Amino acid sequence: MSYGKRAQKRIGVLTSGGDCPGLNAVIRGATKTGLQLGYDVVGFLKGYEGLTDPVSYMALDNKNTTGILNQGGTILGSTNKGRFAATVGVSDRVEIDPVLLAGVKTTVEQLSLEGLVCIGGDGSLAVAQQFHEYGIPVVGVPKTIDNDLSATAFTFGFDSAVACATDALDRLKTTAASHERVMVLEVMGRHAGWIALYAGIAGGADVILLPEIQWSYDSVCQKILERENSGKSHTLVVVAEGAELPTGKMVLQEQEQGNRQSRLGGVGAIVASEIEERLKRETRVAVLGHLQRGGPPTTFDRVLATQYGAHAVRMIAEGRFGEMVCYNPPHMNSVPILDAVNELRTVDSKGDAVLAARALGVCFGDKPESDNPFMLRKRQKPVDQVDGGDLESATTDKGGKEGQGVVIQETL
Ligand code: F6P
Repeated sequence: MSYGKRAQKRIGVLTSGGDCPGLNAVIRGATKTGLQLGYDVVGFLKGYEGLTDPVSYMALDNKNTTGILNQGGTILGSTNKGRFAATVGVSDRVEIDPVLLAGVKTTVEQLSLEGLVCIGGDGSLAVAQQFHEYGIPVVGVPKTIDNDLSATAFTFGFDSAVACATDALDRLKTTAASHERVMVLEVMGRHAGWIALYAGIAGGADVILLPEIQWSYDSVCQKILERENSGKSHTLVVVAEGAELPTGKMVLQEQEQGNRQSRLGGVGAIVASEIEERLKRETRVAVLGHLQRGGPPTTFDRVLATQYGAHAVRMIAEGRFGEMVCYNPPHMNSVPILDAVNELRTVDSKGDAVLAARALGVCFGDKPESDNPFMLRKRQKPVDQVDGGDLESATTDKGGKEGQGVVIQETL
């Protein structure tokens, strides 16, 4: 019987796709847990790109993961799409090049990796799913500020993005009040309105425009006038970048190109200019953009990300491959990656958060009375005078002004 030296157990970690606060906290959580379970830990550089041709990685240890818990970004770097782009939907599946898959498998075998922790959003987890189908041992960690992954209550990064947007609203509120202006804040989130909804509630927005709720300029303008009528001469509007215009079109900075998704953005400026034109009130727009993705994670995200990292490594130790760690408060569980990426998780327009906001008088740009059991407050009398004109002519929806440096896309 031979008692030869056993190969050292090893796991890999990578961060893929757009960054967000908390990536380093996951890396640290996974590394420290891995070391405690007797694994060597390696971190692949620039997302999936570091897995093959050329392979690039660094050893992760207690030393180089100390002090990164509160740092934004990722010490491993990341790539959005690059050579690895996949979708796994039944009808729109995009396959990863088999040569790349074979290259990744060889790397995993040569480094004797027992498992690979893939930290990413829907696109990156779709890649992980195809790795799994190819026999590469992966587990997923749900990352994105958009909070749009199914099967988990929260993705890490979301809370930090909401904190950033809430801080922006706090700041915009004081300047809006000083100048008696309407302030429009455009936030990220792609096709989900989570950031707009949560920041809007936390920052005391008066109007919240979401991709999930069809809205009209009439309703938005009416709200502004009602506020004025009750002595409030400033209004805060939060608009999600993916909120469609009343014409049903989405505003893009850039059309989809090859592997790259379309780039959303620009709806805030259109909304602001339309409000100004209709009501003749000074209106300004602020676009928060990538500020929402940078900087230190919030306490909530630090705890969530740390637990995600630790749990992902335990899943490898237990052989639960092809699964993604998920948070079902107060528990960490796991689900098949496929369950998380097959369907986008969007805001429930009749959910508790929306109802609570409506009960406080927040306007979503629609007709709230029809479906709002919590509408305790009676609506104020409609205002009928706007700068000498009547409300009807000031707010009547004609679709609004569109264009100027942005692409307006018909939504399917
Ligand atoms: O998915 C995260 C996200 O920040 C979205 O909210 C936003 O639309 C997009 O990424 C921006 O991507 P990029 O960094 O490629 O501009």
